[in-house]
Amino acid sequence: MTQDELKKAVGWAALKYVKPNSIVGVGTGSTVAHFIDALGSIKHQIEGVVSSSDISTAKLKNLGIPVFDCNAVDMLDIYVDSADEINEQKQMIKGGGAALTREKIVAAIADKFVCIIDESKQVSVLGKFPLPVEVIPMARSAVARELVKLGGLPEYRQNVITDNGNEILDVHNLQIVDAIALENTVNCIAGVVSVGLFANRGADVVLVATADGVRVIE
Ligand code: 5RP
Repeated sequence: MTQDELKKAVGWAALKYVKPNSIVGVGTGSTVAHFIDALGSIKHQIEGVVSSSDISTAKLKNLGIPVFDCNAVDMLDIYVDSADEINEQKQMIKGGGAALTREKIVAAIADKFVCIIDESKQVSVLGKFPLPVEVIPMARSAVARELVKLGGLPEYRQNVITDNGNEILDVHNLQIVDAIALENTVNCIAGVVSVGLFANRGADVVLVATADGVRVIE
């Protein structure tokens, strides 16, 4: 199976976690794009969604799925999203698609985070995938200096402006053993909007697409 076929399999497998008449939190990326297609097939059975990016919103609206403003929703039953890396504690690196801040917000109001991945995303230690950090543009260099002090090698993601009008630093050279501590430390740097470590709020259920089918880790 190709990687995209694995992403499609796991995107459709996530449908079983969607409750009738609920509002669903929707992530961002090529795996989630398949989940959105799957949601389209049951759009009359759900109330709608809260989206984590402009790109997901456009695809959702295109399929005729109602998209609610996050401010209009108290809580969500589930949030479905992928990850760039995930460890055995279900802690993740996310933000390869630059949507980390909104993804964190929508995940935070969801009761259950359903992470949909192909096997290539599973790691024992987080950090091989460069850690995305969304920064206020005027703070980019100052934040980068602080990240160097933490042992990272930050790289400015050229030509990318987030949906929130900010910039991204991708931090290389990290071996993230204590993900919660690093998430908290980076969050405290002035000028950081959010860090793509999802450790304080990790996933609750992980669906892993393999050549032999979709494995469920709870
Ligand atoms: C976007 C994300 C995505 O979940 C992550 O980059 C994985 O993407 P894909 O499904 O395309 O492999 O965090 O900000």
